Order: sequence, then structure tokens, then C-alpha cells
Amino acid sequence: MKEIFALLKSHRSIRKYKPEPIPDDLLENILISARQAPTSSNIQAYSIIVVKDKEKKAKLAHLCGDQSYVASCPVFLAICPDLHRLQQVCELRGYKSNDRFIEMFIVAVVDAALVAQNILVASEASGLGVCMIGGIRNNPGQVCDLLKLPERVFPLMGICLGYPDHDPMVKPRLPDDVVIHREEYSDNNFAKLIKEYDSLIKATGLYDGPKRKVSSPDGREIPDDDYSWSEHTSRRVASTDPIALRDHMRRFLLDREFGLE
Ligand SMILES: Cc1cc2nc3c(=O)[nH]c(=O)nc-3n(C[C@H](O)[C@H](O)[C@H](O)COP(=O)(O)O)c2cc1C
Repeated sequence: MKEIFALLKSHRSIRKYKPEPIPDDLLENILISARQAPTSSNIQAYSIIVVKDKEKKAKLAHLCGDQSYVASCPVFLAICPDLHRLQQVCELRGYKSNDRFIEMFIVAVVDAALVAQNILVASEASGLGVCMIGGIRNNPGQVCDLLKLPERVFPLMGICLGYPDHDPMVKPRLPDDVVIHREEYSDNNFAKLIKEYDSLIKATGLYDGPKRKVSSPDGREIPDDDYSWSEHTSRRVASTDPIALRDHMRRFLLDREFGLE
């Protein structure tokens, strides 16, 4: 097993998997270990749906925006914030749950995200490759139907698991000084540091080729040389594309009985 710092620093998302199955005992061990993640007040407000069925994975791949690796990975996990179980617990004890506030929603989402990251780390430590899938929120209602999720449970993210069949690069992260602030928030040297990061990412070829670029929301065209992380990310953040924005999410959550007060 790799030393933990080396393991964390070597993370990269894997999108091609060998057909080789994941041994059941390994998968169980990953899930059980990951579930020791901290959880707000020990409420454990999430559920994990383990999907191995080929047909179901193919349907999910389509619903996740035609991401083929959702179908080709041997195991797909749907990570779901779950307030349904807590409501049932209240009923068992004769209480009416008062979960209409957005705080409870945040608690459930954070619990789910923490267990998801633990799954990623345990999997990578075991030689598996992982890709998290936010595309599961492209068509969340249909995913709920397919996985028979009750109200107050929704698919936050998917996780593809399998033995890696490619060796993509480890993507450099933003400079530490942009992200880590000492004692107080600071924008010092922001533009310079982002420019340096753009140069670093440009050199990796991450956004080379038209397929890897995002189109500009205002239709502007820029030289290839000027397209790097800040342009890519700005286009993503400034996007008006309803699919990228997933502008259905608020309505969807309200319809699933998540209180967002
Ligand atoms: C919550 C979340 C959702 C993601 N959704 C997708 C996805 O739908 N499809 C995909 O190919 N990658 C997805 N990713 C992977 C990111 O694109 C990836 O982590 C990021 O580009 C950094 O690359 P790296 O993981 O290789 O370091 C997701 C990652 C996270 C954390």
C-alpha cells in the first residue's frame, strides 16, 4: 500500500476500466471502511446504491449525459443524501421531523460528500481507479425512478470504480497561495498567480483540441495560446447553458420534499 501522502498526491480521475470485476470482499471492505467517515452529530444522512447490473449501468450512463465509463466500469455507486431514513426514525420514536430548513440539506450533502471521498481514497489505496460523476444530476428524477429512491433521497454524485486501463496525468492544482490563506483572507498577487497557473496548465496540454474546450457564453473567439484554466473555468462559471447550469435542481429538490427554507 502506498504511503498516504503519496497516495493523495497521485490522485487522478480514471475514465477507462479493465473489464475485470472488483472482488466482493474488497468492495465490501471499501464501503465499510469509508462509512467510518465523520458525520454531523452521527446522523449518517446518506445512502449508497451499489449498481453492478449491466443494463442499469447503461441506462445510468445515458442519464448521466452519455458518459460511457458509467456503463463500462464494473461498479457504479450512487451517493445519495438521505433525509427519508431520519424521518422514519422520528416516526419510530413518535416525533414529527422538522427538516424543512436548508441547514439539514447541507448536513446531508456534506455527510454524503465525506463518505464519497473516503470511498475514493480507500479505492485508490487498493489499486482501483475512480471517477466521480456529477452528471447524475443531469436527469435526477429519472435516476430516482431507476434506483427507486424515496422522497427526501436524491443522487448527489455517482462514483465509477474499476481497475484502471489508462494512465492519465495528475493535474496540477491551483497555487497554494491562492487557496490557503494565513490568518485572514488575502487576494495578494492573485492575477500573477493565476497567470502562472494558466502557463503551467497550458504546458500540460489539458485543454488542447476543440473537444476539450468549452464554448464562450458571449461567442468570443480567442487564440489557442490564450485558452487555459482561467478561460475554461470562466466560461464554465459564466455559462448560460441550462444543462451546464442544471437549473432544474431547485425545483427538483423541492418536489422531492427537501425543505430549503
Ligand atoms: C462532485 C464531482 C463531480 C464530477 N463529475 C464528473 C462527471 O460527471 N464526469 C467526469 O468525467 N468527471 C467528473 N468529475 C471529475 C472531475 O472532472 C475531476 O475531478 C477534475 O477535473 C480534476 O481532475 P482529477 O480528478 O483527474 O484530478 C467530478 C468530480 C467531482 C468532485
